[in-house]
Amino acid sequence: MTDQTIQVRKLTPRIGAEISGVDLSRPLDDRTFREIRAALLENQVIFFREQDITLDQHKAFGRRFGELHVHPAAPAPEGHPEILRIHADQNSKRVAGEGWHSDVSCDPEPPMGSILRLHKVPSCGGDTLFSSMYAAYDALSQPMKDLLCGLTAVHSGEHVYRGRYEYTEGTREDTKQAFPRSEHPVIRTHPETGRQALFVNASFTTHIKGLHKRESDALLEFLYAHCARPEFQCRFKWDVGSIAFWDNRCTQHHAMWDYFPEVRSGFRVTIAGDKPFYRADTPEKRAMAA
Ligand code: SIN
Repeated sequence: MTDQTIQVRKLTPRIGAEISGVDLSRPLDDRTFREIRAALLENQVIFFREQDITLDQHKAFGRRFGELHVHPAAPAPEGHPEILRIHADQNSKRVAGEGWHSDVSCDPEPPMGSILRLHKVPSCGGDTLFSSMYAAYDALSQPMKDLLCGLTAVHSGEHVYRGRYEYTEGTREDTKQAFPRSEHPVIRTHPETGRQALFVNASFTTHIKGLHKRESDALLEFLYAHCARPEFQCRFKWDVGSIAFWDNRCTQHHAMWDYFPEVRSGFRVTIAGDKPFYRADTPEKRAMAA
């Protein structure tokens, strides 16, 4: 195993960086692994180009960051339960990830990160947009932060996954299946960086506990619009062999389906996460952020 020297080029000041100088088909030496991990923690989503890797190499890369997550609903390719196929073509009625979300946030322990590689891309379009939930939190007023940090939201997979894969090869009948539903803090403290992030999303979050429905709907509508502000975002243009690796604990993403009827196809490895929690900012931390 020889050391590789990576270069990190930021896409925007707040979120996203492209990494070069690494071949992910080779086992990662510890220094390169630490540098990639540090780039992910700092930039929240990192991108690689021209990576020619097998499913096993893709999984091995993911396993450097933690145990792999198995999707609660989507069928997996034969022999690879930890792989999620991302695919759209002229027969697709919908595509995965079209709408702002953090992956599988309905799980009691939502995934820490996701690593998507595309092997087929449309002639143009099919970009993925990423939004920083640190930036979204930081931009809120202190009274709004004070309100949100005491709140808990319900995230459900029922309306997202029920019947969703019924025309997909390898799918199983889901009438008897129960999909995850979990309660998470609206403001989540990142377990590695200690930074606060907004943790509600339009795909999975159904309501905020303890509020009247009209209050919850109005607050969530405001927060979803806030999370989607362009200044919190970066946008990735894919080529064949590109990889995006995002931290679900502090980002949301949105896959653009503007290329119908063209084909876009890839595989995603998802890394297991832990139970979201909120830890209050200390006065010192507040002073540093001000
Ligand atoms: C997803 O994993 O949510 C899909 C992202 C994409 O297709 O760009």
